[in-house]
Amino acid sequence: MSTLLELERVTKRFGGLTALDGVSLRVGAGEIVGIIGPNGSGKTTLFATASGFLRPEDGDIRFDGRSIVGLRPSRINALGLARTFQIVQPFAGLSVRENVVIGALRGGRETLATARRIAAEVLDLVGLSPRAGQPAGNLTLPEQKRLEMARALATQPKLVLLDEIMAGLRPAEVDQAIGLLRQIRGRGVTLVIVEHLVRAVLALAERMYVLHHGSLIAEGRPDEVIHQPAVVEAYFGTTDGSPARA
Ligand SMILES: Nc1ncnc2c1ncn2[C@@H]1O[C@H](COP(=O)(O)OP(=O)(O)OP(=O)(O)O)[C@@H](O)[C@H]1O
Ligand SMILES: [Mg+2]
Repeated sequence: MSTLLELERVTKRFGGLTALDGVSLRVGAGEIVGIIGPNGSGKTTLFATASGFLRPEDGDIRFDGRSIVGLRPSRINALGLARTFQIVQPFAGLSVRENVVIGALRGGRETLATARRIAAEVLDLVGLSPRAGQPAGNLTLPEQKRLEMARALATQPKLVLLDEIMAGLRPAEVDQAIGLLRQIRGRGVTLVIVEHLVRAVLALAERMYVLHHGSLIAEGRPDEVIHQPAVVEAYFGTTDGSPARA
């Protein structure tokens, strides 16, 4: 499988805090890769760094065969790497449809007519067509998460970094979200998912990485990784339990 995204010894510091400490990982084209880790372990920082919102102090990030370190987020997005935001940030006063059209225009490649067509397709995919005319601020939390996904997908990415899109969802909504992500991957989009909900990662990811205090402490098949002592210890401070229960 060809490598689409690769981080090589990436380090990101905030003053004296090392939020990412020499992180190396790879994502193959067509994969769903999961990333888990306790609160503050660096998951969102990893996404922000890979998508150009933060610049690493050290290391290299390659996407689709080229180094993207130092490129602006909009440029990286135009190359085919999109992200969602853990804290959803729609233009609340604009309609759901307008929010997604803006996403489609962001790549700078599309005409307004094409952007509208892409927006309609993407809204249909995520199940938001019936809400398309509503102000984005009126959406429920699960709908806002789907809008975040729609905005990312509207940029027609090769790969999307999804930051806790299942947080706060009810079990039935989680099942729907799992189905939706499978469908998106079925369209050839590579996915990297950060989720606290281990059930979702187990259901979706072929491989996963575990972050703890900015370092990778485990990687491999999810059903194997979650039982590794280092992983159990990172979550519980003991090896008696297992995050598989989460
Ligand atoms: N902009 C920033 N400035 C300073 N410190 C930051 C900044 N962003 C994150 N941090 C710190 O970096 C560390 C990693 O934060 P990050 O948000 O990446 O964790 P996370 O794994 O996404 O956590 P969560 O599961 O709570 O979303 C934390 O200690 C956090 O306080
Ligand atoms: Mg986070």
